[in-house]
Amino acid sequence: PSPVDTNPSMEVKTSLLDNMIGVGDMVLLEPLNEDSFIENLRSRFDHNEIYTYIGSVVISMNPYRSLPIYTPQKVEEYRNRNFYELSPHIYALADEAYRSLRDQDKDQCILITGESGAGKTEASKLVMSYVAAVCGKGQEVNKVKEQLLQSNPVLEAFGNAKTMRNDNSSRFGKYMDIEFDFKGDPLGGVISNYLLEKSRVCKQPRGERNFHIFYQLLSGASDDTLLKLKLDRDFSKYNYLSLDSANVNGLDDAASFRTVRNAMQIVGFMEDEVQSVLELVAAVLKLGNIEFKPESRVNGFDESRVKDKNDLKEMCELLGIEQSVLERAFSYRTVEAKMEKMSTTLNVAQAYYARDALAKNLYSRLFSWLVTRINESIKAQAKTRHKVMGVLDIYGFEIFEDNSFEQFIINYCNEKLQQIFIELTLREEQEEYIREDIEWTNIVYFNNAVICDLIENNQNGILAMLDEECLRPGTVTDDTFLDKLNTICAEHQHFESRLSKNSKFLTDHSLPHSCFRIQHYAGKVLYRVEGFVDKNNDLLYRDLSQAMYKATHSLMRQLFPEGNPAKVNLKRPPTAGFQFKASVGVLMKNLQTKNPNYIRCIKPNDKKVAHIFTDSLVCHQVRYLGLMENVRVRRAGYAFRQPYESCLKRYKMLCKTTWPQWRGPARDGVAVLLTDCSVPTEEFAYGRSKIFIRNPRTLFTLEERRRACLEDLATLIQKIYRGWKSRTHFLLLKKSQVVVAAWYRRYAQQNKYQKIKSASLVMQSFIRGWKARNILRQLKYEKRCKEAVTTIAAYWHGTQVRRDYRKFFRANAGKKIYNFTIQRIMQKYFLGLKTTTMSPMDNTWPAKPYGFLEGAHTELRRIFHLWRCKKYRGQFTEEKKAVYEEKLEASEIFKDKKALYPSSVSQPFKGDYLEIQKNPKYQKLNSAVEEKVLLADLVNKINRANGKGSPRLFLLTKSNFVLADQKTGQVKTSVPLPDLASVSVSTQSDGFFALKLKEGSASASKGDFLLSSDHLIEIITKLHRIGTTAADRDQINIDISDEFLVQFKQDKVCVKFIQGGPKNGNSAACKRKNNRLLEVSVPSP
Ligand SMILES: Nc1ncnc2c1ncn2[C@@H]1O[C@H](COP(=O)(O)OP(=O)(O)OP(=O)(O)O)[C@@H](O)[C@H]1O
Ligand SMILES: [Mg+2]
Repeated sequence: PSPVDTNPSMEVKTSLLDNMIGVGDMVLLEPLNEDSFIENLRSRFDHNEIYTYIGSVVISMNPYRSLPIYTPQKVEEYRNRNFYELSPHIYALADEAYRSLRDQDKDQCILITGESGAGKTEASKLVMSYVAAVCGKGQEVNKVKEQLLQSNPVLEAFGNAKTMRNDNSSRFGKYMDIEFDFKGDPLGGVISNYLLEKSRVCKQPRGERNFHIFYQLLSGASDDTLLKLKLDRDFSKYNYLSLDSANVNGLDDAASFRTVRNAMQIVGFMEDEVQSVLELVAAVLKLGNIEFKPESRVNGFDESRVKDKNDLKEMCELLGIEQSVLERAFSYRTVEAKMEKMSTTLNVAQAYYARDALAKNLYSRLFSWLVTRINESIKAQAKTRHKVMGVLDIYGFEIFEDNSFEQFIINYCNEKLQQIFIELTLREEQEEYIREDIEWTNIVYFNNAVICDLIENNQNGILAMLDEECLRPGTVTDDTFLDKLNTICAEHQHFESRLSKNSKFLTDHSLPHSCFRIQHYAGKVLYRVEGFVDKNNDLLYRDLSQAMYKATHSLMRQLFPEGNPAKVNLKRPPTAGFQFKASVGVLMKNLQTKNPNYIRCIKPNDKKVAHIFTDSLVCHQVRYLGLMENVRVRRAGYAFRQPYESCLKRYKMLCKTTWPQWRGPARDGVAVLLTDCSVPTEEFAYGRSKIFIRNPRTLFTLEERRRACLEDLATLIQKIYRGWKSRTHFLLLKKSQVVVAAWYRRYAQQNKYQKIKSASLVMQSFIRGWKARNILRQLKYEKRCKEAVTTIAAYWHGTQVRRDYRKFFRANAGKKIYNFTIQRIMQKYFLGLKTTTMSPMDNTWPAKPYGFLEGAHTELRRIFHLWRCKKYRGQFTEEKKAVYEEKLEASEIFKDKKALYPSSVSQPFKGDYLEIQKNPKYQKLNSAVEEKVLLADLVNKINRANGKGSPRLFLLTKSNFVLADQKTGQVKTSVPLPDLASVSVSTQSDGFFALKLKEGSASASKGDFLLSSDHLIEIITKLHRIGTTAADRDQINIDISDEFLVQFKQDKVCVKFIQGGPKNGNSAACKRKNNRLLEVSVPSP
């Protein structure tokens, strides 16, 4: 492999003219002749450069191996680049076409021509995949793309076959319109198919195969599927499959089958549709196995019979046809003419003919149905205006040993394409010169219009005559057709026949009798007339088509519409030739409205192998493709043209004025440039927008100088770049250094500052301390000085004053000072006494402050107490005063004499305990007592007999005391107070008292009274008081002793009080001990 082979994608080419192997554009070939042309192709081919330009036409050599030049990187490389910018590639053409479609709104067509095996189909797929890769993206768009791309494997499986020339030869013509919206996103497509080579279904030339699908189905389908289709995996079981080349090297039929199934699914085939299609394919195979045997009939005609009905049966089952119907259709033929119907039997040969015709029709109609079905899926949904890119991949020019009707048709199509090529390229070239205002000289080239005319002329063209023969009544054979040709076309310079009127070929032994020869643009082709009429008629017996129409299989009615008995059409269907001519006519018209882009495919050898370049073969193709003429036409005027802008851009470095920048119109710049480079004026011409260069050599000189200049420029650029790079680097370093330095300085400075700061703080504190101590010392000294001065001054003043006043003071100063001092002391003392309270109960008195005040202090305390008591007394009312007087008297009588007394101090003297005024119970009693009752109480009168007490009401008035019954209030005794001699009580805490009466008084007869009361103290005190206040009486004596005598009527009884134990209870108890003694035991306190 060449160095380019190692990694071509790494190589960045900026121009067609860079790194050229040979020349990339044949227009630049120097010298231009066939040898150099072929040599250029060869040297490029040897270096894996399979694409070469002639202007904008791409020549493509089939490399017969996969080259790494179709990678996504390559797609990117060629995307949006100018055509001549990169080395020749089919992508450049696809890109150019796509961009002018998208940007300039020009419908495009890509015409791919070349003979069988030259790589047309591959080229068409490359173009499609490139466009798919560069156009818009998105879910919807991607689906459309995928469907468009996946239609290829389906059509190839059904329409391609292995031939001698090509293992994957397209056996049909295909034209596909890809439709885009205004953005350049694909919307859908339409596929047109042209004339499938259906004879292949029944018979294949030696070394060739039937259509791929048969082999794919048998080797790729699952056992289950095959069982359903009633098929056997063994190819040899089927008559229609040629055996010698059933397996092709490098073709994996099983894998392809999976690819096709998958592709059908993507394109949108339903599962049952796929099944129907496969059923039809199986039916064709079965059909081929039906054989016939002769059966003599009475009238001497041979009649055919189906030999082994098994295949027929299975086929009928597959298609859902009644077996007998089909069987009859293979044995009889009904001919209808006007109103008559005639049935004739078929002999064996006719039966076989009918069978094959049916197989061919079935298959070719299935193929057309597939195309229609695919179109349904891929058709553009939107009804908006579309931009269209057409890709034409039609079968290539074919010259076989044995050429028949199909080759004739195919070659006719190629003639037409050549015609359109000639017309369009020349016209375009011509138009460009006119457009650009350049002088145009006509170039002589071979125009194949005459050949087209020979074939398609409506009056005496070969196709017209064939049709005429077919329609002519009477016996029509291929020979009668040839005879006709011999008469009519004899004079045509491109028609050759042994038996023609033209005696020139009488002795030509290369021309058999049953043949005619046409000098096609691509070479002479010998056609055998056998089968022309039949194939043109394309006859399918009506019985068969009607039988097919009756089938229940879902597709059959669509495929055989003419079998509908309701629409019997007696007119002959259009012949195959006629149909083809018509469709080619439509195609040509269509192509003419579009901007053509050419890919001319060339096959380098006949062996389908890589690396072999057969000169003679290539030379032949170059000749018939008219490539040399193409180059010449292109060069006749000017070999090279370029818009001013790009020319100026490319060469501006050759002239100082245009380098580095030309300001002004590009055209002027180019003019300046060319003059400066001293290019001879006849070497170029100025068009409107382009500069035209006549000789490639001139261009090469320019290129050469450019290359040299580029080297200098490269050095310059390198120098500047290196300088720039170093400088940038330096500047960056410098900048970084400054940043680093700044940060470092900042850091260092911060550190230093911190140190200085802390040091100065230390120093500052020391200095401040020192200063403060100094000041303190100073202040202290000053203070001492001041104090000293003050002291000295005071003493000094004192001395002064004393000295001055000594004479005045000496006599009574001491006394005065003493008085003053005493005064001050007393003042302070009296103010200190102020704190004492006014309460008579308060016993506190400040301690004496000075010894000399002792007497005064005690006296003051006494006086103060008396005074505050007087003050206190002064607040009393009369009643309160009386109460207190009573209390005072009680205290005088009992204090320290009777143990009962202290408990009575706190009890107020109430007087009337019985509430005698208010209580109605005592009303009688009340009325009995005339005077004011001073005291009323409940007392116990002690019985002298037993010492027991009985309750009595005791009332005291100013003049007497009364004892009354407690219950009735009946006065029992009333004693006037003057009769009362004395009262005796004990020293103890009991309530006993004895009221002693004066001897000899009126009341004395009753005897003394011994009573006990809870209010003893009060009663005695009141009695005593009455005595003191009454002027007419003596004081009542009050004896306080624990033993006294009581006079009960006659007897004197001693009452003795003893201290009793606590067991005696709370109250005192009185007991009679004997006649003379009453003992009262008083509980100990
Ligand atoms: N660019 C290519 N790179 C690699 N191999 C290629 C290329 N072009 C063609 N081939 C090979 O050549 C074979 C034939 O190519 P292709 O089927 O495109 O020929 P064709 O011109 O369509 O022929 P036909 O007219 O018989 O259909 C392909 O199967 C492929 O192996
Ligand atoms: Mg092909």
